Amino acid sequence: MTPTPTPADKFTFGLWTVGYSGSDPFGGPTRPPLDVVHAVEKLTELGAYGLTFHDDDLFPFGSSDDDRQKQIDRLKTALADTGLKVPMVTTNLFSAPVFKDGGFTSNDRKVRRFALRKAIRQLELGVELGTETFVMWGGREGAEYDSAKDIRAALERYREAVNMLADYVTDKGYDIRFAIEPKPNEPRGDILLPTVGHALAFISSLERSELFGLNPEVGHEQMTGLNFAAGVAQALYHDKLFHIDLNGQRGVKYDQDLVFGHADLHNAFALVDLLENGGLAGGPSYGGPRHFDYKPSRTEDETGVWVSAKANMTNYLLLKERAAAFRSDPEVQAALAAAKVPELSVPTLSDGESYEQLLADRSAWEDFDATSYFGAKGYGFVHLQQLATEHLLGAR
Ligand code: GCO
Ligand code: MN
Ligand code: MN
Repeated sequence: MTPTPTPADKFTFGLWTVGYSGSDPFGGPTRPPLDVVHAVEKLTELGAYGLTFHDDDLFPFGSSDDDRQKQIDRLKTALADTGLKVPMVTTNLFSAPVFKDGGFTSNDRKVRRFALRKAIRQLELGVELGTETFVMWGGREGAEYDSAKDIRAALERYREAVNMLADYVTDKGYDIRFAIEPKPNEPRGDILLPTVGHALAFISSLERSELFGLNPEVGHEQMTGLNFAAGVAQALYHDKLFHIDLNGQRGVKYDQDLVFGHADLHNAFALVDLLENGGLAGGPSYGGPRHFDYKPSRTEDETGVWVSAKANMTNYLLLKERAAAFRSDPEVQAALAAAKVPELSVPTLSDGESYEQLLADRSAWEDFDATSYFGAKGYGFVHLQQLATEHLLGAR
């Protein structure tokens, strides 16, 4: 039996995900365009909570005001009919030729000013639809050639742009926050803010940094060989997990955007365990949407699109069940204790202890037997990992 998703699970999908036509750099579309009303109806039927979109997903770049409004109205009617929400929107600053050298950080100042106007226009639409988060993925903010981009100037222009957007929402009194999405490369040879860590450092330099957090994506960290669950844990540690893009990636290669759970299952298990059971008191550590940013493979027809949309949610819920079983297994609890996992939460210095007291503590040096660790005192991490694996495989 596979679990059935409901809106309470807060699963959301980008319109560009289920709407992906199968185009890649080597071949054109393999599927006809997907109408937004149909997408809203199908996602509702499958148990999703929300839809997210770029401006250009809903109305093509360069649409007349009338055509844009028609599409907005069609979406609004479909949302009202189904109850589906739009908790996040984002701007496309990467598809149109004008953005070939980026939006906020293009070398061409006129393009930067146009990008800001496009972002504000989409921000306004998001507010109208009740959006909580504005995602910024700067896919074209970067370069292929070192001498072509002054990185320090580009970061300064990025800061200038997002500081202005933060002033804008503050002045207008909008209740919306920004989530920056890191990615190492593709479409640019090198993208600015390539990882969670780079983005966290950048955010701390912003004027209204409290309005900025992260939208990390599974595949993007894994494209660099980094551990996604560990990156998300650090984002949570800094209180910066504002949104999340779930998908699958098989190793260091092009951005695959596979279904969540169709690659690196161990890390997916660790991630769901972290999101669902990683709170201080053992509760959820993240309350926002579980957003799938995947691409139904170009080999599939429309049936395959909905099969893959459902698969994302099923896999998340199965991992959630498996993670709950893992946490409540007494053998796991014993293995965690034996591995001293809870002990890491005990401060290294006692309450109020100074370095003088540490230096005076003979048990920390003179009487401490460091050699007793040779050939003994194994942590049992492998046993713990095997228990996790057995839970993951449904053997427990
Ligand atoms: C990608 C990105 C995008 C963004 C989207 C939202 O690699 O293509 O993940 O899908 O998430 O543009 O800003
Ligand atoms: Mn991606
Ligand atoms: Mn993404």
